[in-house]
Amino acid sequence: MSKCYATNYNSSPHKGNGNTAVILDPFLQGMKEAGADISLHYTDDLIISACRGDLRCMTHTPGTCIHDDDMRWLFPKMEDADIWVLASPLYCDGVTGPMKTLMDRMVPLLQLFVELREDRCRHPLWTPKERMIVLVSNCGFWENESFDPVIAQTKAFAKNVHAEYAGSIIRPHGPTLKAMIQKGLPVQDVLDSIRDAGFQLIDKGYMDECTLNAISRPLKTRDAFLKDANEIIQNIIDHAMIHSESL
Ligand SMILES: Cc1cc2nc3c(=O)[nH]c(=O)nc-3n(C[C@H](O)[C@H](O)[C@H](O)COP(=O)(O)O)c2cc1C
Repeated sequence: MSKCYATNYNSSPHKGNGNTAVILDPFLQGMKEAGADISLHYTDDLIISACRGDLRCMTHTPGTCIHDDDMRWLFPKMEDADIWVLASPLYCDGVTGPMKTLMDRMVPLLQLFVELREDRCRHPLWTPKERMIVLVSNCGFWENESFDPVIAQTKAFAKNVHAEYAGSIIRPHGPTLKAMIQKGLPVQDVLDSIRDAGFQLIDKGYMDECTLNAISRPLKTRDAFLKDANEIIQNIIDHAMIHSESL
């Protein structure tokens, strides 16, 4: 792929210190190394109001939302971008609220008219452009299947906005990855695979399936995960009790 611009949104409330950042950062690094222009925004730093659903952006003021907030300057950046990287921790099997609001606020890309595309009703784009969408997500639970609903939603969203779904960087038991990095345990292969995926996306226009699979490999058995997670949770509760008793 020639020089491209990738705009990245991280919707974790923990911003650069969260588990989402642990996997997003090497992905950005890989894209940069392959020559992409990158921008990174934390939704927590932005004012993006919820869509009011009056559809004036699709009728009266084509492409312009009624809200005068940070989307006024972000929307043109997203319009220009070749790649949208949507990074979100898994919240109740989907993206976070702020990420969903951002997705809703991309509707001004579309006209209200309806057309058939691949045998489905769709709104046409005001300005046709080729784009790719990548999901970057981590979650608390152990199973890769935790991401099935959010991947399905990202694929559907990509179709809705006439973009190509380019794949997902998914990291189950995300907090375990961060803990293992902090303890110096052997997880560098996961971070290297994430960086490789970012590089491949820019260099070849797609990410290898084996690279994506390496990113979400189990870091421990499910039994060990259950045991360790519950021990940590018990410690947190005990610590909170001691703290509240000493107040
Ligand atoms: C409100 C809320 C809902 C969550 N829902 C899920 C869930 O459905 N499945 C899951 O595996 N983890 C869930 N989690 C755990 C987060 O995905 C996990 O802690 C993640 O590592 C947070 O990433 P961050 O540090 O970047 O914020 C949830 C956490 C919160 C706070």
